[in-house]
Amino acid sequence: MPRHTFDATFFKRFYSTSPVHSRTKVNTLATAVHAMCQWWEVPVRSVLDVGAGLGYWRDWYATTHPKVKRLSVDISEHACEKYGHECHDIASWFPTRQFDLVVCHSVLQYLNDKQAAAAIGNLAKATRGVLYLEVPTSADLRNAVDKKTTDLNIYARTGDWYRKRLNRHFVPAGAGLWVARASGTTLYELERSR
Ligand SMILES: C[S@@+](CC[C@H](N)C(=O)[O-])C[C@H]1O[C@@H](n2cnc3c(N)ncnc32)[C@H](O)[C@@H]1O
Repeated sequence: MPRHTFDATFFKRFYSTSPVHSRTKVNTLATAVHAMCQWWEVPVRSVLDVGAGLGYWRDWYATTHPKVKRLSVDISEHACEKYGHECHDIASWFPTRQFDLVVCHSVLQYLNDKQAAAAIGNLAKATRGVLYLEVPTSADLRNAVDKKTTDLNIYARTGDWYRKRLNRHFVPAGAGLWVARASGTTLYELERSR
């Protein structure tokens, strides 16, 4: 059963020489996600980064869109202290107000089925506009991930497992983007993924 402490050793191992996500890559992704929100006319005035790790998303918004309200949270006491996040477990916490954009980048694979299902419910409660979600599935672990740099001590679930729970709250738009059903945002048929 995967167990992590998300201490300094974890972050050194996965974010030093060959990082899981480099700051440059996250900056590129954040630029694209922000632009897609603008395309859908979802105003991004607030952003929540769940499982923020080194805080690259929060930093990108602080630099490029300083007026956007930012909240970054993480379960790791080490990350919260070192990188300035609020300490919360997304399996049991949701914010008291909604955020236009919610980011959950490479986090849910560390939660067991019950926790991950609860976390998806909490992400849905937190999202007013768009959720950006990345999580490796069991097929990704077989076919897509770089086994040398990826943490494989994780919970593997199928894409269908995630889709079943996410689809209750979000319209899948592809590329990790999930548009909150309650947002009233209309996507063309072929903008959506199945
Ligand atoms: C692989 S790192 C990803 C960090 C960052 N999102 C990124 O993409 O680089 C996983 C992060 O999720 C956090 N995390 C794991 N379980 C969590 C939970 N239940 N609630 C909040 N954060 C969690 C860890 O502390 C760690 O910072």
